[in-house]
Amino acid sequence: MLDFDKFTQYSKPGPRYTSYPTALEFSDTFTYDAFLEKLHAQDSSRPLSLYFHLPFCKNACYFCGCNVVFTSKEDKKERYIDYLIREMAILAQHIDVNRSVIQLHFGGGTPTFFNAEQLERIIAAIKSHFKNFVEGAEISCEIDPRHINDEQMKVMSEAGFNRVSFGIQDFDEKVQIAVHRVQPYDITKKAMDLARKYNMVSVNVDLIYGLPYQSLETFKKTLDLAISLNPDRFAVFNYAHVPWLKKTMRKIDETTLPHPAEKLAIMRHTIDYMDSKGYRMIGMDHFAKPEDELFKAIEKGELHRNFQGYTTKGGADLIGIGLTSIGEGADYYAQNFKEMDAYEEAIDAGKLPYERGVALNEDDRIRQYVIMELMSNFRLDIGRFEKLYNVKFGSYFADALEELKPFEADGLITITPSLIECSSTGTLLIRNIAIPFDAYMKRHASNTKTFSKTV
Ligand SMILES: C[S@@+](CC[C@H](N)C(=O)[O-])C[C@H]1O[C@@H](n2cnc3c(N)ncnc32)[C@H](O)[C@@H]1O
Ligand code: SF4
Repeated sequence: MLDFDKFTQYSKPGPRYTSYPTALEFSDTFTYDAFLEKLHAQDSSRPLSLYFHLPFCKNACYFCGCNVVFTSKEDKKERYIDYLIREMAILAQHIDVNRSVIQLHFGGGTPTFFNAEQLERIIAAIKSHFKNFVEGAEISCEIDPRHINDEQMKVMSEAGFNRVSFGIQDFDEKVQIAVHRVQPYDITKKAMDLARKYNMVSVNVDLIYGLPYQSLETFKKTLDLAISLNPDRFAVFNYAHVPWLKKTMRKIDETTLPHPAEKLAIMRHTIDYMDSKGYRMIGMDHFAKPEDELFKAIEKGELHRNFQGYTTKGGADLIGIGLTSIGEGADYYAQNFKEMDAYEEAIDAGKLPYERGVALNEDDRIRQYVIMELMSNFRLDIGRFEKLYNVKFGSYFADALEELKPFEADGLITITPSLIECSSTGTLLIRNIAIPFDAYMKRHASNTKTFSKTV
């Protein structure tokens, strides 16, 4: 049995580690020219993974932590497409666009806030620049079920999209009203049916726990309804409440948020419930059926983590295109401008809209490997690590091992000379377990207004 009191003591602000170093370390000291050098030096035999940020939404969901531009103006959307196309043309001067593409992802915002013709125009431009999509490439789109119709799904299906992800968050009406996202079950069901009609290989749904008025009882009902839609994958995110960064979150009454112990009970129940329905936990916040490739990857210890979450595709260079998008090479992270004016100005000047990033040194790469292994596979094969990096784990990470002693004493991890492994309860605290390996965290430790809470 879980000791909830003890467990909630671990709740503290901490990164979600979609990157290491985290975005807090991104800065303009990694200059535009240095970024271009990294792009030019890329190994052409490595495949590409393309991320397009399509930032528009009509109304704000109060919990939203994504990079969104709220508008309903058609001309703004058309103008954005023009700039995306120009950005790709500039990119083609700096990378070999004939490299094979193994992944394409449309993220948002709400990509399907673009209508069918607009989506078609974006996709045609992508395919005219990047001609070498591999057979079976993963092509995916994030979709708000309130904004999807038959025509849009048809366009995507004909263009080879084979994965979609729907935002649900919660089915409870009181919760929906409190977060300003009223989305009746029937709307989500219709969107699901469309995805099946167009033979999407994998359908994911997003839920969030930690929202206003949620309790174990309400969330049980949400899970029942979500399961009835029979998705292939679930993301069950821990609500990241950072009102000092996201103004719309200030509209949420913090006294209505569930306490850490309630959140933990929700997550514990979710894991058991998913298990009873044949889904297995993948990484920190995902669940998949055993036949899903994410599940197979975790079995082989080959799950990877990047800005889009978990993936089976390691070893590709991720190129971010569009406002605020983030790219990731073997030894750098690069983020585009967040402000539309600055984004457009750069492209008008014939430059890539790169704003800031970080070049990784040897220590960063070593820690990145350890943190991403833990975040993805909940274990670290120390022998494999030592062979890869030619360092002695025990002496290199003596401090971290000391910090992990309480976790070991509480049975959350086991540490042997050859392996670090989380217990099933320890997986719920994986962010806390990764923090001791983060060289930058000490600098931020005194600032509570940096990251969301881990529990
Ligand atoms: C870009 S949205 C998905 C597509 C579409 N815009 C929608 O909402 O349906 C990405 C997902 O991030 C999750 N999300 C957004 N803000 C979050 C937050 N503050 N904490 C945790 N998850 C969050 C939601 O589950 C959401 O579905
Ligand atoms: S959760 Fe999705 S629909 Fe809601 S504001 Fe954020 S990006 Fe837009």
